[in-house]
Amino acid sequence: MDNSVSLSGSGLIGEHGLSLYIETEENKILFDTGQNLALAHNTNVLDIDLSRIDTVVISHGHYDHTGGLKHLLEKNTTFSLYAHPDVFDDKLRSRKSGAFKKIGIPFNKSIFDHTAVQIHLSKDSDEIATGVFTSGEIPQENDFETIESQFHVQRAGEIIPDPLADDQAMILDAQKGLVVLLGCSHRGVVNTLDHIEKLFPEKKIHAIIGGLHLGKASDAVLQKIIDHLSAFELEKIGVSHCTGTKAMLALFERFKDKVFINSAGTVNLF
Ligand SMILES: [Fe+2]
Ligand SMILES: [Fe+2]
Repeated sequence: MDNSVSLSGSGLIGEHGLSLYIETEENKILFDTGQNLALAHNTNVLDIDLSRIDTVVISHGHYDHTGGLKHLLEKNTTFSLYAHPDVFDDKLRSRKSGAFKKIGIPFNKSIFDHTAVQIHLSKDSDEIATGVFTSGEIPQENDFETIESQFHVQRAGEIIPDPLADDQAMILDAQKGLVVLLGCSHRGVVNTLDHIEKLFPEKKIHAIIGGLHLGKASDAVLQKIIDHLSAFELEKIGVSHCTGTKAMLALFERFKDKVFINSAGTVNLF
């Protein structure tokens, strides 16, 4: 599920958020879960049996990537869940009025009580299934990708800027090369790919798919990001969710037919 829908007449629905369904030879995996409604509806339309999912990876603890866990738990209580330890933090967004809106996981961790869900929280990259990896925490190394100042977190009663340390990617070691799945890329897509290149020095990154969170990026930052992306010589760039229209157009302009909109209903084979 995604903000937009690719197949007209498909009966799929869009919703602000992201959820990608992945099948490998051995596993059925969900990367993020959207807000809830579209996961329930679209898996039904696409005949995806949520009860057969064995692995769930959460990119970060925002509601538009985690709310669907509620529907998933109605269908399946036996999967392994992988995320960063900060994923259950009290996440907030500041409004112009100065008020804060809750944007974290929209339920308590106790929702997993009395289920057989195995929760694995780690800051480190991990092979979670054959050929499937989490990136772990992504270091912020460059000076042009910054976390938006609206994102906050409440810790010990104090509201502070959220470093979004929980933001992580998922990596598939596929036949065509590495495929990187991105939630919102809050830590920066270049930082994410630099980190993954260090994790897999022998491998080539074939494709990236997901949200790039560049809706508010300045033209200068956008150009820097695109220049850095070109060094990776990606074969496919599937943009989703929070990438932003201006960023999508700039990517199309530079990378031409390597770019596609990865919306609900898009199927990729790697
Ligand atoms: Fe998002
Ligand atoms: Fe987010």
